[in-house]
Amino acid sequence: MSRATGRSTVLHISDVHVTERGLLYDAVDGIARLRAVGDYVRRSQMTPEAVLITGDLAQRGNPGAYGALRDAVSELRDAVQAPVLTIIGNHDDTEAARTLDGHEHSHHRTVLVDGIRFVLLDSSSGELGAAQRQWLADELATPHGEGTVVAVHHPPLGSPLPTLAKAGLRDAEQLLDILVGTDTRAVLAGHFHHPLAAHVRDIPVMVGPSLAYHQVMDGRADRISGHDRAMFSVVHLHADAVTATSVSLETPTPLFSSSVAVPPTLHR
Ligand SMILES: [Fe+2]
Repeated sequence: MSRATGRSTVLHISDVHVTERGLLYDAVDGIARLRAVGDYVRRSQMTPEAVLITGDLAQRGNPGAYGALRDAVSELRDAVQAPVLTIIGNHDDTEAARTLDGHEHSHHRTVLVDGIRFVLLDSSSGELGAAQRQWLADELATPHGEGTVVAVHHPPLGSPLPTLAKAGLRDAEQLLDILVGTDTRAVLAGHFHHPLAAHVRDIPVMVGPSLAYHQVMDGRADRISGHDRAMFSVVHLHADAVTATSVSLETPTPLFSSSVAVPPTLHR
């Protein structure tokens, strides 16, 4: 937690879909976009306590992408001066992803950053499964510091988009059974490629937007349509609140820009 602001900042990136070679859909360079996030953070003078990337790190069928991804994660860590924590999603190659830092032995684990406990889960198969759920229950049996952030690629609920309504975590109810009554501050997820804020059984669930492409709400009800928009989210953990702010990497021409006095306690 920042002593100046009384809150912790988590930069939440999701669904990067890095490719081995060439551009995703002839347009998207996931590595360049990770670099752009680092540049954005530097320009904004944000000082996040941690960066979290919630899965679909690489595009399906691109096991050779993880070397460049590992380097990009390292570069981002240096750019923001904070740990970069990763989980895998349904697109990720479970074997090739073992070359990433922290994934050598298991794709689920706990990482402590200052007072926050990050519980990083593996839903690459679409569910957690009984063994991982038992591990999670054991981890959360004891509260930690300022509380726990649970990271899982598949959100524990459906999307309002008809084509993604059933795309949430298959064992969502069992996950929520475990989380209720623990010190979980928020569940941070991805997978939908559109931001979503929810409150499920009193637990805040923040689905981050995708850094690779945005799935739009005004497509046909029987189609999913990805549009070229790179976004991430800034999550603030206050003592009594959690907020998530979607940020677009696009920089259209500003309409206006004027100075506003900001109290020191609200500085980033
Ligand atoms: Fe994805």
